[in-house]
Amino acid sequence: MKNYNSERRLKIILKNLNENTRFLETKNFIQHGDTSVYEHVINVSYMAIEIAESLNLNVDYDSLIRGALLHDYFLYDWHDKKTRPMLHGFYHPGIALLNAKKELSLNEIEEDIIKKHMFPLTLFPPKYKEAWVVTLADKIVATKETKSTIFRKKVKVGANI
Ligand SMILES: [Fe+2]
Ligand SMILES: [Fe+2]
Repeated sequence: MKNYNSERRLKIILKNLNENTRFLETKNFIQHGDTSVYEHVINVSYMAIEIAESLNLNVDYDSLIRGALLHDYFLYDWHDKKTRPMLHGFYHPGIALLNAKKELSLNEIEEDIIKKHMFPLTLFPPKYKEAWVVTLADKIVATKETKSTIFRKKVKVGANI
């Protein structure tokens, strides 16, 4: 994290969500490998800040961070075929948006981030640059999280030979 201000902002927004919404429940659900949804969305937030800062983008950082933290606020175990909705990949952005709107009032940028973060799986591309940044950050982080689990598994298998 290069910019102290962005990290501080992230901590304030996270604390606010933890205290006023069901956000902490995301700790109970696994996203990729052994990374919880809670850890995943924090990773995505850091990555989104990193991308915006390194490209010197003029973004609304509060909306970027809030949208990144809430982009996977679907609140169920997507690995469990009995409880997850059909086509999780396609529907979870809409479910996350509904959950967030029950507890918070979102601006257009935050809504766009949550709704479009699965682009190109979504019909329409992101409208705001903040949503493009989170879409990219999510893909980079998801790959890293999945890869690191595969790596750990390989190390384990290697150790048993
Ligand atoms: Fe997602
Ligand atoms: Fe995600």
